[in-house]
Amino acid sequence: MNPEVYKEIERKYVIKKQICENEAKFRKRQLENELPEFAKLEKEKNKVAINFAREILSQTGVEKEIAEENMKLKIEEIQKKADKLLKKSGYDKDYLAPKYECKLCEDTGRMLLKGEQKYCKCFIQKLVNMTYKQYNILKIEEENFNTFDIGYYSDKKDNAKYKSENSPRENIEKIRTIAQKFCDNIHDKNQKNLLFVGNTGTGKTFMSNCIAYDLINKGYTVIYQTAPLLMDIAMEAKYNYNNDLKNKQKYNAIFEADVLIIDDLGTETLNNNRFTELFNIINTRLLKDKKTIISTNLMLNELNEEYDERVMSRLIGNYIICKFIGDDIRFKKKKIAD
Ligand SMILES: Nc1ncnc2c1ncn2[C@@H]1O[C@H](COP(=O)(O)OP(=O)(O)O)[C@@H](O)[C@H]1O
Ligand SMILES: [Mg+2]
Ligand SMILES: [Zn+2]
Repeated sequence: MNPEVYKEIERKYVIKKQICENEAKFRKRQLENELPEFAKLEKEKNKVAINFAREILSQTGVEKEIAEENMKLKIEEIQKKADKLLKKSGYDKDYLAPKYECKLCEDTGRMLLKGEQKYCKCFIQKLVNMTYKQYNILKIEEENFNTFDIGYYSDKKDNAKYKSENSPRENIEKIRTIAQKFCDNIHDKNQKNLLFVGNTGTGKTFMSNCIAYDLINKGYTVIYQTAPLLMDIAMEAKYNYNNDLKNKQKYNAIFEADVLIIDDLGTETLNNNRFTELFNIINTRLLKDKKTIISTNLMLNELNEEYDERVMSRLIGNYIICKFIGDDIRFKKKKIAD
């Protein structure tokens, strides 16, 4: 990705962290004004630190360690008094701590992982968002494996209705296992991609979001896009109608992301150029060993009619086909709400 993008995000982190810490300082000053007793304790803490600093600097070895330990104990003692005072005055224990947006990296954007400096997952996701603003992060906070509710799927078998030996619940449990395996084996060359087929409202997008959430939390880059928008981005980049640099970056990201989710395949308008481009995206990602999830409301035979052999043979050979069955969950949810 463009190094300018990294720099821009890093600049934002520095500013964000600073604002956050300044706000914490401001709260402290306010509290010192409001509670003279608290101000006194803070002064006392500073004094202890200054006094011991002299001692610590002038000593070495065990004596230095003892002095350090003594200082720590003394400060902790005063801190306890201050904490008590805050509590008595109705302030939360964390009132004075900076309210970082990301607790993992304290808004530095970096983390130490097994002794190595790594970008925090929040940084990685920002990176994706910079070029891919469309990803609806709010939604994946709501739709993930933790909020997954199997209760929306009927446990009644109905071969005529669902055209399956299994009940919708048994079926979705199998798919959930496949999805979780997909997340665990994302690096494995032998792990196949996923093709979600099934009617509207059977939970295809939900399942894609579960996977996205899981993988983003593990630090992978995930791009979610509906097929029509994906095709627009590709066409714009290819034929360069507006010479749009941002769009070029988006286009490149389609090939670079660890996981690409193409939602609602079959709803885009097709022509020869778009066909070729869809094939190009699917094929290039296969060649690069990057995983893709595709979902569609079309049934396999309908897909066969819509898309040419090249696309279909890539899908059939390299994708696990998951058939979503059941009643439209949107209606079920609405009924419960009414
Ligand atoms: N496992 C689930 N638990 C809770 N809600 C779900 C689940 N699966 C789907 N939903 C909800 O049902 C509705 C339809 O699901 P969606 O994934 O959009 O279906 P599809 O993409 O197949 O059309 C959405 O409101 C979604 O949040
Ligand atoms: Mg959907
Ligand atoms: Zn972070």
